[in-house]
Amino acid sequence: MKILITGGAGFIGTHLTRHLLQSGHSVTILDNFLPQVHAKNVGLASDVAGHARLVTGDVADAAVMRSALEGAECIVHLAAETGTGQSMYEVSRYERTNLAGTAVLYDLLAKMPGHKVERVVVASSRSIYGEGAYHCDEDGLVYPLSRESQEKQSGLFDPLCPVCGGECKSAPTPESAPLQPSSFYGLTKQVQEQTVLMFGQVLKIPSVALRYQNVYGPGQSLQNPYTGILAIFSNLARIGRTIQVFEDGMESRDFVYIEDVVKATAAAATQSLTGCHSVNIGSNERTSVLEVANQINDFYGGRSELKVTGAFREGDIRHGLADLTQAQALLKYQPRWRFAEGLRKFLEWANQSAPVTSGYEQSLMEMKERGLLRG
Ligand SMILES: NC(=O)c1ccc[n+]([C@@H]2O[C@H](COP(=O)([O-])OP(=O)(O)OC[C@H]3O[C@@H](n4cnc5c(N)ncnc54)[C@H](O)[C@@H]3O)[C@@H](O)[C@H]2O)c1
Repeated sequence: MKILITGGAGFIGTHLTRHLLQSGHSVTILDNFLPQVHAKNVGLASDVAGHARLVTGDVADAAVMRSALEGAECIVHLAAETGTGQSMYEVSRYERTNLAGTAVLYDLLAKMPGHKVERVVVASSRSIYGEGAYHCDEDGLVYPLSRESQEKQSGLFDPLCPVCGGECKSAPTPESAPLQPSSFYGLTKQVQEQTVLMFGQVLKIPSVALRYQNVYGPGQSLQNPYTGILAIFSNLARIGRTIQVFEDGMESRDFVYIEDVVKATAAAATQSLTGCHSVNIGSNERTSVLEVANQINDFYGGRSELKVTGAFREGDIRHGLADLTQAQALLKYQPRWRFAEGLRKFLEWANQSAPVTSGYEQSLMEMKERGLLRG
């Protein structure tokens, strides 16, 4: 197949490109090498360069997108601005890449009657759920709204049941959950997903939105201070700097290893499939942020102090865990990697380059100044 990967020079895109090339597909990458992600590096990974066609430019530029689309039979749309917190003040930047970029794609597909595109896969995100599913003993499966700042300020971090106001426990979130993103990034991902699935129906292009949980592994950007908790904590732990853990440290995430994500994405792109679908991609395992900080600090010899600060970021969710029933049924997806193993792989890889010490404090300051980091 001839596959176009937008954002193909990024973390997931580079791994996916390798995998698809090895499976005999031909790959075109469209990427603008966003400096926040790539710093000064404006080339593809050395083992990919020369094997994939590269179109350098912006997804929201129609001429660039048109050139990238030449001959494409499948599109994997990964290009995006990805910082949850940053999206709350760089609003039009997020709107341009994540929404206008997707609109340009369909502007072209709708006006190109002879196109050969027979599949679109879009990188959606768990962030579109907001807090996601909870179980209440009284009311069963419930979906709390965003947590109130006042409650978090007084140390009450766990969402309450939206029906009875009592305690409830985080549960795996199914795709049928209501979409109630708590950040602009999440909102752009929701609209991006809905755009792809709606045009998939109208233009009769089978399409899949993969709702990734927190993806991690070797190759993820170590310099982007706006996203990637593992990269941020590992940079701090390596130089023995204090690691600040937000809330009470018990907030948790579903960390899914890159190899599992690539398998799921390749399956969505290349397996025979009809219709349009939203599919969760996760690890079946939850890990608290404090546990992550401890494991990373231990790996580097325990030189950092861990400070559970009680501070919190607006837009952050408390827990994330995907229900994978649909992924199993549709893509035969089974995550293989446990967090402890995947984390070791990531840290061994991160250890091979110099720690990135700039940018993190600045990103916290930006949030604080705008009232988005409190407590
Ligand atoms: N990594 C995760 O944990 C995660 C979780 C949920 C969803 N996602 C989604 O998966 C996709 C890939 O994420 P990633 O982790 O590989 O991120 P990444 O930042 O490593 O890769 C994104 C790529 O898109 C490129 N890009 C950004 N803006 C662009 C533009 N205007 N034009 C062209 N290219 C542009 C960047 O240069 C980068 O190479 C994104 O859509 C992201 O929202 C990622």
